[in-house]
Amino acid sequence: MRVLTGIQPSGDLHIGNYFGSIKQMVEAQNSSQTFAFIANYHAMTSVTDGKRLSELSMQCATDFLALGINPEKSTFWIQSDVKEVLELYWILSSFTPMGLLERAHSYKDKTARGIASNHSLFSYPALMAADILLFGSEVVPVGKDQIQHVEMTRDIATKFNNKYGDILTIPEFRVQEEVQTVPGIDGQKMSKSYGNIVNIFGAEKKQLKTIKKIVTENVAMEEPKEFQNCNVYNMAKLFLEGENLIALQDRYKAGGEGHGHFKVYLAEVMWEYFKEFRDKRKYYENNQDEVREILNMGANKAKDIALPTIEKIRNVTGIKY
Ligand code: ADP
Ligand code: TRP
Repeated sequence: MRVLTGIQPSGDLHIGNYFGSIKQMVEAQNSSQTFAFIANYHAMTSVTDGKRLSELSMQCATDFLALGINPEKSTFWIQSDVKEVLELYWILSSFTPMGLLERAHSYKDKTARGIASNHSLFSYPALMAADILLFGSEVVPVGKDQIQHVEMTRDIATKFNNKYGDILTIPEFRVQEEVQTVPGIDGQKMSKSYGNIVNIFGAEKKQLKTIKKIVTENVAMEEPKEFQNCNVYNMAKLFLEGENLIALQDRYKAGGEGHGHFKVYLAEVMWEYFKEFRDKRKYYENNQDEVREILNMGANKAKDIALPTIEKIRNVTGIKY
C-alpha cells in the first residue's frame, strides 16, 4: 500500500498537524510504503518572505524527523526538489474544471478570513492532485479539512484516465475519526494560517501562556462543568487515555476547579507527551547537515518513482514529440 502526505512549512507545526496527519504517517511506516514531503510550493500561498520560507522548510523537516519520520522506512523530501510535480500540475490543470475549484471550502474559508485571493491559492488543489498522483498514492492520511482536496484529486485523475487510459492511480483519503478536527485556542479549526495554534516544540512557559488563552465557558469555580464541548478538554483528550481521561472528566463533573486548573493540567500532559520528541529534535537541530543529506537522499528516492510516471504522462499527452 502506498501512503502519501504533505505538510506546508508555513509556520510552526501544531498539535492539529501532529494528530491529524503526522502521527498516522509515522504509524503507517511499519506496514506501508510511505511518502512524506514538505509542501514548500504550497506554502508560497501564504509565505512570501524568501528567507523565512527557506528557514521554515528546514525547521519543518527537522520537526518531522524528530516526530518519528524514519528516512530509512519513508521516502521523505522537500517538494521543490522534485520539480516534475509542477509539470504534472500544469497538465492536470486542463482536467480541472473551474467549478470544481470554485467549490473548494479551504479556498472559500481562507478568502473569507481576509487572506488575499490569487491564482496560487485558487489553483492549489490542482498542485495537491499532482503531488498525490505523481507518486501513485493509494491512501492519503489527512485532517477533515483536506478531504475535499483528495476528492477533487480523484475527480481530476478520473477525467485524465477517461481521456488517456488507466494511467493514474485513484487515491483514497484516510481520516482518524477521533481527531478529525483539532480545535484551536479560539475553538475554530487549529491552523497555522488562523493564528490559533498550540505548537509542538514551543518553550514551556510560552506553551502555558498560549494554553491559558484557550477560550472556555464562563462558569463559577464551584459549579460542575461540561467537558464534551470544552476546548481544553478536547485538546487534553488527545494526550490521555483510559483512566486518566475518565479522571479528568470526573474533575469537570465535580466542580470546585476552574478552567484555569484544567489548562495547567493540559500544559503538563502535553509537555510530558512530547518530551522524547524534544530530545530528538535537539539532536537534528545540532546536525542540520545530516538533515540536508537525508532530504537529498529522499529526493532521489522520490524521483525514482516520479520520473517513470511523468515520462508515461508526457508520452500519452503528446507533450513528448
Ligand atoms: P495548517 O492548516 O495549520 O496550515 P496544513 O494545512 O499544513 O495545516 O495541514 C497539514 C496536515 O495537518 C493536513 O493533513 C491537515 O488536514 C492536518 N491538520 C491541520 N490542521 C488540523 C486540525 N486542526 N485538526 C486535524 N488535522 C489538521
Ligand atoms: N494541502 C495540504 C494542507 O494544507 C498539504 C498538502 C499539499 C498535502 N500536498 C499534499 C497533503 C498532498 C496530502 C497530500 O494540509
